[in-house]
Amino acid sequence: MYAITIPEPGGPEALVWTEVPDPVPGEGEVLVEVVSSAVNRADLLQRQGFYTPPPGSSPYPGLECAGRITALGPGVGGWSVGDEVCALLVGGGYAEKVAVPAGQLLPVPKGVDLAKAAALPEVTCTVWSNVFMIAHLSPGETFLVHGGSSGIGTMAIQLAKAVGAKVAVTAGTKEKLDFCADLGADILINYREQDFVEEIRENTVGGGADVILDNMGAKYLNRNVDALAVNGRLAIIGMQGGIQGELNIAALLGKRGAITATTLRARPLAEKAAVVAAVREHVWPLIEGGHVRPIVDQELPMSEAAQGHRVLEESGHIGKVLLTRA
Ligand SMILES: NC(=O)c1ccc[n+]([C@@H]2O[C@H](COP(=O)([O-])OP(=O)(O)OC[C@H]3O[C@@H](n4cnc5c(N)ncnc54)[C@H](OP(=O)(O)O)[C@@H]3O)[C@@H](O)[C@H]2O)c1
Repeated sequence: MYAITIPEPGGPEALVWTEVPDPVPGEGEVLVEVVSSAVNRADLLQRQGFYTPPPGSSPYPGLECAGRITALGPGVGGWSVGDEVCALLVGGGYAEKVAVPAGQLLPVPKGVDLAKAAALPEVTCTVWSNVFMIAHLSPGETFLVHGGSSGIGTMAIQLAKAVGAKVAVTAGTKEKLDFCADLGADILINYREQDFVEEIRENTVGGGADVILDNMGAKYLNRNVDALAVNGRLAIIGMQGGIQGELNIAALLGKRGAITATTLRARPLAEKAAVVAAVREHVWPLIEGGHVRPIVDQELPMSEAAQGHRVLEESGHIGKVLLTRA
């Protein structure tokens, strides 16, 4: 088969579409013929040599895919050859074929085009596990998501609105904030022109957000604590603003606040399967009922993955960038 390989870490040109050996599904895995994958920020880090795939996983980038099952490994039940699926991956999505643990498979939701289903696994699993399973966002609470027009942000807005939360977003342009408003966001904050802490305090009854989903890490650590309501929960999922910050513990104590930080990729198989099962139970009905949809900025040929990486680096996109096979 062909896959995007990274012979030497570097810029987008480091991604090379090359012939490689086919993957073989192991115990509990299926083989998926990939129709599409999607670009994630973590892929950019992997390309630069800063995010080594976990031991035993595919060396190729790609944390999600959509496609058809073409073979079942030993011990797989509940799935058949020919099933149309999307999947959360630990790597290997930028390829014609990928072996996937059966616990990380999801059926393509009714009403969603097969290729576009690759836009769903990472954002639904990340948002559901952090915002709902860990931070327990509840109806009537206020939710702030940074980078509201991102792949993660566009899914977070829709899911939070679907459960009846008030949603605040940050984004860098008016066009992106307008898109967030169309998805249902209530409080729109241009992070280049406004102070999100002040805006959240002024626009919420309790003077803060009950749950914050953060992509920035160090840069926003103390300001996120300042923007929390009493009993607020800060869920950190990204480090776009640096990895090391100094926390004002007194401010966190005063909020009786909680900070969590997780990454999906490194979690054990059983934990990932539990997240995927929860997403299938809670998120899939919202998609099939028309309340939540994949937001796709553009689709590029998989062999042109380098261009997909440039798009994310320039941050001109809204939602997900897909890589499709002809
Ligand atoms: N931990 C996990 O398991 C996990 C899983 C998936 C994703 N993630 C993380 O989640 C984040 C979003 O991922 P994605 O794939 O959706 O990325 P993406 O589409 O590339 O979005 C990145 C976002 O960052 C925003 N941003 C940049 N500077 C900002 C600032 N100063 N304040 C607020 N927002 C700012 C950008 O907003 P503008 O374009 O408006 O500037 C953009 O919306 C990334 O950090 C990614 O690594 C984590």
